[in-house]
Amino acid sequence: MKLLGIETSCDETAAAVVEDGCHALSNVVASQIDIHKEYGGVVPEVAARSHIEVILPVIHEAMEKAGTDWDDIDGIAVTAGPGLLGSLLIGTLTARTLALIHGKPLYAVNHVVAHTFANFLIDPQPQFPLLALSVSGGHSHLLLFESPLEYRLLGRTRDDAAGEAFDKVAKIMGLPYPGGISIGKAAIQGDEHAYDLPKAKLGPESLDFSFSGLKTAVLRTLQKEVGADFRLPSSQIPGRINQDQVNNMAASFHRTVYETLVGQLLKAYKLYSPKSVVIAGGVAANQRLREEVSRQIPLEMHYAPMQYCTDNGAMIASMGYYLAQAGRSADPLKLTTDPSLAIS
Ligand code: KG4
Ligand code: ZN
Repeated sequence: MKLLGIETSCDETAAAVVEDGCHALSNVVASQIDIHKEYGGVVPEVAARSHIEVILPVIHEAMEKAGTDWDDIDGIAVTAGPGLLGSLLIGTLTARTLALIHGKPLYAVNHVVAHTFANFLIDPQPQFPLLALSVSGGHSHLLLFESPLEYRLLGRTRDDAAGEAFDKVAKIMGLPYPGGISIGKAAIQGDEHAYDLPKAKLGPESLDFSFSGLKTAVLRTLQKEVGADFRLPSSQIPGRINQDQVNNMAASFHRTVYETLVGQLLKAYKLYSPKSVVIAGGVAANQRLREEVSRQIPLEMHYAPMQYCTDNGAMIASMGYYLAQAGRSADPLKLTTDPSLAIS
């Protein structure tokens, strides 16, 4: 069964053709990173306009690379939420229209849950029960899967997502967007124990995360470091800190984030004894996080390649395959888009 997957929830316009939920025949991503770099983050209106410009060529390229035409496609899977409303609407309207024109079933996919399916695109396939840490620019979730479509939320961020914290801290230090990549690079040059940054205390039972206090702690520490008081605007920090301070803060922040993520993942592992553990989402591309997960989780770990960690159409098509198997198609005339789509 071959599914076309379409993803436009944030700043990547992506499409892929995936066979049987596990073999990606193509995976095309048009990234808007260079456009949003100028602003230090994603600008929703700009993102939506870019999706409109490239979505049809991206879908065309994905089908061409997979060597498929419409006769070979068994269905269309699309991200229905969560994400930026304007961006989501372009993907869903395109998918609904194509489904109607070509008479294909349509599958509505939850973006956050779909990130986990990146791990179904590599061998060996994960086993169930499956514990997933899904961390990106928009979310930080711990999920437990009993099967591909039976999952529940164990914990989530109470404020900023892990990737969002990377992006905001990078901006404070004058490093380019996306922060995950620029902070990762600076961190290699720095001392990860240079600054002692706080970790949110959410209670021994909690599997939640919280990163907004950490971001504020970085700002306060740097304001103090440059001899200013807390009223110094963050925009003036980059001009007043040197490269060593940037590297040391990047390394210390980086350590605090991966220790927090791995700490909660390990806690969940001990509570639920899953057969497999996977990490997913843009932050899962982080090499240091992977090393630490492999060191602390007593299972053989497998990691999806970078192109499946960040937003892509293949993970959407993979989850769509399981919805198709379960007969859970959506009506192209009625499919709704939900920017805060919950996990259910
Ligand atoms: O999953 P994704 O592509 O989009 C969302 O659904 O948000 O994740 C993007 C996020 C950004 O916040 C970016 O800073 C972060 O993932 N990211 C990383 C790395 N690469 C991207 N964070 C840590 N380390 C990386 N290597
Ligand atoms: Zn994502």
